[in-house]
Amino acid sequence: MACLLTVLAVLALFSCGLCEEKNFLQRAGMTFNNRQYRSMLTVTNGEQFGNWTWPEMCPDQFFAVGFSVRVESSQYGGDDTALNGVRLICAKDGNRSFLYSVESHTGYFGDWSQPQYCPSGVLTAFQLRIEPHQGIFGDDTAANNIKFRCSSNPTLEGTGKDWGEYGHWSQECQAGGICGIESKMEEYQYGLDDSTLNDVRFHCCAKPLQ
Ligand SMILES: *[C@@H]1O[C@H](CO)[C@@H](O)[C@H](O)[C@H]1NC(C)=O
Ligand SMILES: *[C@@H]1O[C@H](CO)[C@@H](O)[C@H](O)[C@H]1NC(C)=O
Repeated sequence: MACLLTVLAVLALFSCGLCEEKNFLQRAGMTFNNRQYRSMLTVTNGEQFGNWTWPEMCPDQFFAVGFSVRVESSQYGGDDTALNGVRLICAKDGNRSFLYSVESHTGYFGDWSQPQYCPSGVLTAFQLRIEPHQGIFGDDTAANNIKFRCSSNPTLEGTGKDWGEYGHWSQECQAGGICGIESKMEEYQYGLDDSTLNDVRFHCCAKPLQ
């Protein structure tokens, strides 16, 4: 009997965990793309392959407070792609019980990490770790990892790979924060060398006046 109750309790917890996830973290996709933004944050060390894809914006009054990354684990002699995507997690007034995510075009390899959040505040700048072009016969991975700076000052580093080096920090969002993302993605190479994510840039939005 006690055993049955335990099973029921675990089931209840599990199903409620699922419903919470569904209710409180939604993908925004391109739904909010008509949001006005002030500026774009870029870095200069992005790699050359692929094309800029589509932007995705957090809803009005929502700002990125955290992120997760999609990373392919090491392929040990196979075709590595390292960082495949970045997903921004957007909140309104820092309320983390109701979140939207945006990610633009991501690669198809690897798993999404657990989200990492600013202790408080919003994301305001970023830095990319890029492996330079490996030559015609080399294995390109392009983007390997990303760091963000929070308005409350700490920096957060993704759980990407260690190939290549970090470049310079982007500009900072002034009087606001990151509110959108656009990725530069090399399409699937059908058995040739995949590098997936090559570069990323972020939109800055102004905070509404109180
Ligand atoms: C994407 O960029 C490559 C160069 O990196 C170019 O050759 C190709 O035509 C572009 N594809 C599209 C769909 O624009
Ligand atoms: C956070 O947002 C949810 C959903 O809109 C709302 O029910 C809740 O009261 C908010 N929490 C705070 C602390 O404002």
